[in-house]
Amino acid sequence: MQNDYPALKAHYRFTKDDEALLARLKPELEPFADEFLDGFYEFIWGFGATADFLKDQDVIARHRGKIREWYGDLFGGVYDISYFLKLYKIGEIHVKLGLPTHYVNAAFNYVRVFILGRIYKQSAGSGDLTAKLKAVERILDINLDVLTSSYREEEMSRFLSLSRIEKTLLAGLKKTSSYFNYLLACALVMVAFFAIGLFGYDVYLLLSGKNPVEQGILTILGSLLILWAAIELIHQEMNHLRGGSFALEVFITLAIAALIRKILIFSLSPAKTLDVVLYGVLVLCLGVSYWLVMQRINPLKK
Ligand code: HEM
Repeated sequence: MQNDYPALKAHYRFTKDDEALLARLKPELEPFADEFLDGFYEFIWGFGATADFLKDQDVIARHRGKIREWYGDLFGGVYDISYFLKLYKIGEIHVKLGLPTHYVNAAFNYVRVFILGRIYKQSAGSGDLTAKLKAVERILDINLDVLTSSYREEEMSRFLSLSRIEKTLLAGLKKTSSYFNYLLACALVMVAFFAIGLFGYDVYLLLSGKNPVEQGILTILGSLLILWAAIELIHQEMNHLRGGSFALEVFITLAIAALIRKILIFSLSPAKTLDVVLYGVLVLCLGVSYWLVMQRINPLKK
């Protein structure tokens, strides 16, 4: 792919005029390099796990130097094979480091907003503003394309390196797992119906006077909690069938809901105080596990 950079440029309609325009932008944008870099690190630091990659001051300083160079090259006006090889190497290094592709995509959002903002400020009212913006958009999209192509190729090469038997087995396993997932989805719908049944039964016990009012209401609340958790599970299973990842947190939520139901019921009986305390401790442990899982999934939400 890196050898076919003329095709890449052509696909993005990146012309000689764009190259010349970018070169003309260099003196306007280079003075903002430090501001760009400060904002860049502030932005990517919000990703949460950035420190896992930019581990110490040495690495940060090296990266800062490299990003400065990359920023300068964006407006170098020369986009030949060596420019593209450099980009490809950056992508490969990121892949080797295991840097999530999402981090690169998100960082590009900062780059785009920063550069376009500066151009608007510098060139507002000038006749070639639109052409300048188009040229910047194109070179940024080309950069992002090359930088993320290493990720796609890594996935592809992993697949291509499998033997025929492994590929057939993989395809078979994928099919089987998708059938089981549909089965699981049906079973979950059944569970939701049972939860509705349980809710109806609890209402019946309350209305028929078989359960005292306080216990009846708490039991109904408990069965509603189970119904809510079952609906949430169905929702997650639908996401999983659409290609989403396994949602461990929902299963933890379900366990918490089931335990809270028990606590609600047992809390009415003084003889079950110890059980309530034990269930409470379990809920606390599950709550901590839930928090840990959510921290892992959403490191960006701080
Ligand atoms: C606009 C997005 C980014 C660009 C253009 C970029 C650019 C670069 C460049 C030019 C290098 C040096 C490659 C070489 O040695 O030839 C590099 C390496 C590296 N990048 Fe990035 N990077 C980006 C985003 C990120 C992000 C978001 C992280 C971390 C959260 C990151 C972490 C690293 C690390 C750890 C290295 C290796 C540094 C070293 O040990 O020398 N990069 N990157």
